[in-house]
Amino acid sequence: CGIVGYIGHRDAYPIIMKGLQRLEYRGYDSAGIVLYDGENTHLSKTKGKVDDLRKKSEATISINGKLGLGHTRWATHGVPNDINSHPHYSSSGDLVIIHNGIIENYESIKKALIARGYSFESDTDTEVLVNLIEEIKKKEGVKLGKAVQIALNQVVGAYAIAVFDKNKPDEIVVAKLGSPLAIGIGENEYFIASDASPFIEFTNNAVYLEDEEMAIIRIGKEIKLRKIKDDAIAYPNILELQMNLEEIEKGGYDHFMLKEIYEQPRAILDTYRGRLLADQGIVKMAGIDQNLEKFLNANRIIIVACGTSWHAGLVAEYIFEDLARIPVEVEYASEFRYRNPVITENDILIAISQSGETADTLAAIKLAKEKGAFVFGVCNVVGSSIARETHAGAYTHAGPEIGVASTKAFTTQITVLTLIALKLANEKGIFSESKYHEFLTELESIPAKVERTLQSNEIVEQISEIYKDSTNCLYLGRGYNFPVALEGALKLKEISYIHAEGYPAAEMKHGPIALIDEQMPVIVIATKKGHYEKVVSNIQEIKSRSGKIIAIVTEGDKTVKELADHVVEVPETSESLTPLLTTIPLQLLSYHIAVMRGCNVDQPRNLAKSVTVE
Ligand code: G6P
Repeated sequence: CGIVGYIGHRDAYPIIMKGLQRLEYRGYDSAGIVLYDGENTHLSKTKGKVDDLRKKSEATISINGKLGLGHTRWATHGVPNDINSHPHYSSSGDLVIIHNGIIENYESIKKALIARGYSFESDTDTEVLVNLIEEIKKKEGVKLGKAVQIALNQVVGAYAIAVFDKNKPDEIVVAKLGSPLAIGIGENEYFIASDASPFIEFTNNAVYLEDEEMAIIRIGKEIKLRKIKDDAIAYPNILELQMNLEEIEKGGYDHFMLKEIYEQPRAILDTYRGRLLADQGIVKMAGIDQNLEKFLNANRIIIVACGTSWHAGLVAEYIFEDLARIPVEVEYASEFRYRNPVITENDILIAISQSGETADTLAAIKLAKEKGAFVFGVCNVVGSSIARETHAGAYTHAGPEIGVASTKAFTTQITVLTLIALKLANEKGIFSESKYHEFLTELESIPAKVERTLQSNEIVEQISEIYKDSTNCLYLGRGYNFPVALEGALKLKEISYIHAEGYPAAEMKHGPIALIDEQMPVIVIATKKGHYEKVVSNIQEIKSRSGKIIAIVTEGDKTVKELADHVVEVPETSESLTPLLTTIPLQLLSYHIAVMRGCNVDQPRNLAKSVTVE
């Protein structure tokens, strides 16, 4: 989501509208604005784009006022509709809030507030938060800033919020944990936004809040910063920005794809946030919990998807069969729908799709439904066609993916599917308590391990420089990492236009080995667990034919290091989770090679982000 706010001497409306438009890359399923005109607040919100909001606001509300907040939403809780859009009022109508993030424990807080007589209009976690602030403000008789602070100490989750009280319209309170929040400082005016793009033409001076910081922004006063936890005073570090608009939107990265690659630790965490409670040994997923019997009694799972999502499906095949002992078939949606497939009522179809709009996947779902199968969706876009067409599902919470080549959608899809497999395995009694616990804890450690893997960026860049002019490239992996090899090859061909193929390492000798000569870079995933010795033999076979070997290995590996021309290390993890790490250097490799070849990384030729034709 994107948030914008203004308080000062100018009209807030045009600033907020333009700001929202610039933040649309952060999410675009609904938008809203609130303005204070000196007497009253005026709120307008709508499903759809910022342009829809502009039309609606100008037709229905007074757009005057020097104080306002705006929001463009990427739904996490509740379908995208007018009511669930931000801003949200508190029950009394005095407080108004915008929020980017997720409040995990909102259900228990909501229950407590309902018991105290509060009622709610929307399904959002945000409306719960603003009422919690109001309740504290009244009960404790404290000022808004203090009430926000007390409330935030009670919530679990991630947020960037801005809130004001219409009875005290010279002040906005903002706070941040996890989601970004920048404050632009002008002459007697302040701007608030998810990044500096909404205010860059008004001021270059900005303060970026740190996690667990809040600020009280008051007209005519300096910003007051505090630590949310212990109330300690913090001192604002005012930066002078030198970025242009486009640079700001890309968060300082050269391309959206690179930004999205780097977002993965965060995206994976957001995906399991509130679902994976490792310390309690629980995986909580509404879509599975409500249909548990169906999953436990399923004859088999059929996974349908296209492109990168299909590769996530292949990884899931290994996970489901290995951990949960459920037979799985993975199908290209386009093939499945046209080949008169055998589907029975005891089959479960899982459709995986980032956009939730892919035409072939949607058609496969309809076909399976006609034949009586239970259909479960794994989508990134809340309220998308596939999300609506399926019987149940789980969202990936990766946030908008702009780069056409999918990166964070892939790793978060694997995260969701792993959670499901672990849960089912546990329900089926396949794991011992301690084994289950071990798995959950390991999954919890993945964001930190992805972060560590990203440190290999420089090494990967050096390798890219050497191989950027190759005309062919081979990717090999076995077991869980066979689909990663396919995905690595797809990434390279998509954005650098180099011909690349992924193969199960052992199949190399049945064909591709004929291609190997001293010109051929071969990327081999050779992590310690999972057929390591066998992959080492495959590497020897490549070496004896003078192929150039780029190996992805486990930290501390010595054997492969001696054989390979280059190695990139990833931290150790359980075998079933290695794809979440090994895929990272392959994303970086394709990214750097594409940049070095002068390709349009974010919008590669002939490709579309969302393919809504068959
Ligand atoms: C297009 C995109 C790919 C994506 C595929 C499936 O080809 O360019 O990145 O993997 O569609 O899209 P979906 O939204 O269904 O995951």
